[in-house]
Amino acid sequence: MDHAELTLRDQPQPRQISLDEYWMPFTPNRDFKADPKMVVRAEGMYYWNDRGEKLIDASSGMFCVNAGHGRKEIADAVHRQLSELDFIAPFLRGHPKQFELAARVAELTPGDLNRIFFVNSGSEAVDTAMKVALAYHQARGQGGRNMFVSRERAYHGVNFGGVSLSGIVNNRRKFGPTLPGIAHMRHTHLKENFFARGEGAHGAELADDLQRFVALYGAENIAACFIEPIAGSTGCLVPPKGYLKRVREICDQHGILLVFDEVICGFGRTGKAFAAQSFGVTPDIMTMAKGLTNGAQPMGAVAISERIHDTIVAAAQDGAIEFFHGYTYSGHPAPCAAGLATLDIYRKEGLFERGAALSPYFLDGIWSLKDLPAVADLRGYGLFAAIEVHPAGAPGARGHLLQKKLFDNGLHLKTTGDSAILAPPLIAERSHIDMIVDCLRKTLPTI
Ligand SMILES: Cc1ncc(COP(=O)(O)O)c(C=O)c1O
Repeated sequence: MDHAELTLRDQPQPRQISLDEYWMPFTPNRDFKADPKMVVRAEGMYYWNDRGEKLIDASSGMFCVNAGHGRKEIADAVHRQLSELDFIAPFLRGHPKQFELAARVAELTPGDLNRIFFVNSGSEAVDTAMKVALAYHQARGQGGRNMFVSRERAYHGVNFGGVSLSGIVNNRRKFGPTLPGIAHMRHTHLKENFFARGEGAHGAELADDLQRFVALYGAENIAACFIEPIAGSTGCLVPPKGYLKRVREICDQHGILLVFDEVICGFGRTGKAFAAQSFGVTPDIMTMAKGLTNGAQPMGAVAISERIHDTIVAAAQDGAIEFFHGYTYSGHPAPCAAGLATLDIYRKEGLFERGAALSPYFLDGIWSLKDLPAVADLRGYGLFAAIEVHPAGAPGARGHLLQKKLFDNGLHLKTTGDSAILAPPLIAERSHIDMIVDCLRKTLPTI
């Protein structure tokens, strides 16, 4: 590869940096290094690039920064925490903020999902949830339940458990057979629901794929069914009306645990703390990350029902470790401090309610783009939406071009394939939504 470098011009003395050494994740590295999209500062709804130009953030970074950028309360809390206690072994030792944050998360979760396990990312949350499900069934004498069900077009992170659950071919095709014993239900991205705002009218019966797996594999072999309430990374696939309730019923009939992966949906994206509450369906286990710390520190969590937790704990002998799992940075003091400060902001500023109130205006704005020739489909719920464009050339090429042109026109968002995914921070004003929609209206005809 050619040598690549960049001159940073946003500082008093322009500075040259090499782009060769850093291997960027989920990025066409050669393409990026030929035309770097570098960001150097953020505040509120905005980023600034290396030339000092301002960009509006239409994806909350990557669905993390729900309270907006540069929140001083979070930075100060992390600074104070690191000055006071920088690190403590997470096994056999505790610090107060782990317990405080767990209690605060449990206040937000639905039902009895009141036992919280901390991890460092969404991927780790998913793999942890898989282990919790397996350990639970073992503890109640049903160790034969070691299969998992998930869905086509699902994204559950990049560790081997999550990749095995995921339903995106590019995330799987180079990595061998992945875990055995995983069955994928069909996705719910149906033509009949194109341009439906909110939950589509068609496709609730696709939940019956789970019933078919029960018939094919035997319920006694199935541990859990993993679902993103709104599939995020494949482009905001809102569930059809009644679909999640039907999945819940089938799980209940057959002793299968229902896991909601709320890594994107959590913390106000759908108008409530979690999508489980927006759709009125309570899972047995829930994974979360991203908005938990407003993206300011890496952290994920798994919320587990008391019943599952108590079963696993009771099965272990007194004095024995109940769950042989955890990470060096589980419940690290700095992200715990960030999480507490973040949840304070959400509560004080009523950001979940604010997001819910802004949703109709946001969706009106997105739907005003319906008639642009490039637009193939629109989907949306809460402050979450996708604009899918008609492909041109290789799948995803037009979406990638759109993302680059939007950046050059002053807007940051995440694309997946040929879908642009919008998820503005919950602090957005109507004027920010107008800016986002105007930029899209200007840019879409140029791709
Ligand atoms: C639903 C879902 N699960 C898991 C993950 C993985 O999270 P992370 O990238 O923090 O490992 C993501 C990331 O976008 C996600 O959207």
